Amino acid sequence: MLIPPGTVAVDPGLDLFAEIDRLRRELNAVILAHYYQEPDIQDVADFVGDSLALSQKAAAADAEVIVFAGVHFMAETAKILNPHKQVLLPDLEAGCSLADGCPPDRFAAFLARYPGHKVVSYINCSAATKAQSDVICTSSNAVKIVASFPADQPLVFAPDRFLGAWVARQLGRDLVLWPGSCEVHEVFSEKALVGLKVAHPQAKVAAHPECPEAVLQHADYVGSTTGILEFARRTDAPAVIVVTEPGILHQMRKESPGKELIPVPGADESCSCNECPYMKKNTLQKLYLCMRDRTPQVTVDPAIAARALVPIRRMLELSR
Ligand code: 13P
Ligand code: SF4
Repeated sequence: MLIPPGTVAVDPGLDLFAEIDRLRRELNAVILAHYYQEPDIQDVADFVGDSLALSQKAAAADAEVIVFAGVHFMAETAKILNPHKQVLLPDLEAGCSLADGCPPDRFAAFLARYPGHKVVSYINCSAATKAQSDVICTSSNAVKIVASFPADQPLVFAPDRFLGAWVARQLGRDLVLWPGSCEVHEVFSEKALVGLKVAHPQAKVAAHPECPEAVLQHADYVGSTTGILEFARRTDAPAVIVVTEPGILHQMRKESPGKELIPVPGADESCSCNECPYMKKNTLQKLYLCMRDRTPQVTVDPAIAARALVPIRRMLELSR
């Protein structure tokens, strides 16, 4: 059999679940996973959550090693919170279009155009962008974090213009928006969503605020991945149309077993572009290998980490 270049051969007879469990004990490791990870990874993790809950878990972790089954900015945040711990990421190329679309040097030039503004940055950005921010937010606390500033305080919100615009609409407040977007959430098809609403008139729509306004206007609920899971549990509706990455359906099926869960496709219905290609870079095998070999590790320049820690801590304090 031909093995594709870059693929590491692992004995196909190996019980990866048992091996990961053994390594977890051997390393004194905690495995944190995001809801967009593949089902096997979610099932083997110690904790599955949204970005806020994962950063809270990382901040409170007493394990010696943090294995982060998510994307790079999440693992980087865990490292900033735990500079003396090893933080492992199954695939270092698990990035994020929002983080990639806000290079720190261009962000610094952008901020120079807005003197007197405070800076609220979505956690989906690099450590060097966080280091230029006054406070970090996630999709579950963005409204609360922005509202913590006096109404007359001018604010820059980065890097997600759709989340920023949604927060601005909730609060009736102007925000200067960095022009970034999530390549997954920006392509959800409004046309397909409307078609699904017509086909399932009993269904409620739950959407992530990274979606454009044209999609969000059809939603009964807008919130983080944890918020969407809670909404699906709570609603009396027999069906929920889900406008976020379909990895979340694994936990939704467990938590809301009686409900029909309907994922919305991306604009090109023939592709799987509603799946995050970065989150899906991690596999159960790569999770096992990163624990076995203790690599790849996430590192952050100590000077940048020290500056980025301040706005991350501020977010954690405001979210208590
Ligand atoms: P949550 O914080 O809602 O889990 O979102 C993370 C993310 O990357 C959404 O695309
Ligand atoms: Fe980034 Fe979008 Fe993937 Fe979330 S879904 S990690 S925002 S690219």
